[in-house]
Amino acid sequence: MMGGFSTGSSAPDMPPRARVPERNDVSDLLPFAPPTPAAPPAEEAAPEAAAPAAPVASDLPLGPTGRPMPVLPDPKPVTEHGPARVISMCNQKGGVGKTTTTINLGAALAEYGRRVLLVDFDPQGSLSVGLGLNPHEMEKTVYNLLMDRTTRLEDVVVPSGVPGMHLLPSNIDLSAAEVQLVHEVAREQTLQRVLAPAIAAYDVILIDCQPSLGLLTVNALTASDGVIVPLECEYFALRGVALLKNTIDKVQERLNPRLEIDGVLGTMFDGRTLHGREVLERLVQAWGDHVFHTVIRRTVKFSDSTVAGEPITSYASDSGGAEAYRQLAKEVALRCLDV
Ligand SMILES: Nc1ncnc2c1ncn2[C@@H]1O[C@H](COP(=O)(O)OP(=O)(O)O)[C@@H](O)[C@H]1O
Ligand SMILES: [Mg+2]
Repeated sequence: MMGGFSTGSSAPDMPPRARVPERNDVSDLLPFAPPTPAAPPAEEAAPEAAAPAAPVASDLPLGPTGRPMPVLPDPKPVTEHGPARVISMCNQKGGVGKTTTTINLGAALAEYGRRVLLVDFDPQGSLSVGLGLNPHEMEKTVYNLLMDRTTRLEDVVVPSGVPGMHLLPSNIDLSAAEVQLVHEVAREQTLQRVLAPAIAAYDVILIDCQPSLGLLTVNALTASDGVIVPLECEYFALRGVALLKNTIDKVQERLNPRLEIDGVLGTMFDGRTLHGREVLERLVQAWGDHVFHTVIRRTVKFSDSTVAGEPITSYASDSGGAEAYRQLAKEVALRCLDV
């Protein structure tokens, strides 16, 4: 898959999870275009791949999606950073867990030692607020980056409160960009152009899309290697999904041939109801192996952590929700980062 990279490291252990409470400093990542060391030859990674034979599917217990739950290894330790895989969190429906997934998948990947950049690409600014920022106190936002060529990435990027994870914040100003971009040359490629200097400095860039399929979302998909579609485990979750798939296909055909579906994520799952399980079954029928084995259960801890302005991985580190996003991080790494 594109955008993946191999570390070639054979160190068997993951570094301990960093849980430094104070805000981190972004100066270590600037400037944004350090030379990227050449990827090591593929043979070097081979000994690690030759791990003990994985259990065959029939031995594995069934997971919440009704398929055998594979054993997910920890993401490979990294010693060098970049180039980043750019992944958009996309669904034109609101309230399905895009922002929650962006924050918590990012934080979980950062715990595994990946350098993560989150892009708030929704004028509602929920991602920025969810990480404790005040929308009225932002000096520069993604809006400035898109519309003013003198604004540099390093003028906008801020720490997220999670070590190794940074944020490009947004507020309501971004809604004007959607209108103004219409008149620009290469209007669909604007986000891709402004993110280009960040690719070498990060391992993963996650873009939190707004709930629409307008020009901002098309910009996000054009800038991305992959897309993750969060879907609420409720009836009608599949409504509108055909339109989303159609938009992804069009962007892939006309603007960005490297775009892939990295996965479909069931969110707000209630395992106690037959209904929730049926919806997951239908998701697997419709999307097959695109559906992540990891499913995010419904819990109030997510709204509590938003109020606290931090990811669930630090707010309630031992909670089921935090563990679910760590498991998702492993699945994402296995599918599209460590390949
Ligand atoms: N798994 C979950 N269980 C319970 N509440 C959740 C879950 N995921 C998200 N939420 C809450 O649902 C609301 C919408 O989630 P959000 O991530 O903002 O969706 P989107 O970005 O797609 O609009 C938020 O209040 C969030 O805290
Ligand atoms: Mg959102």
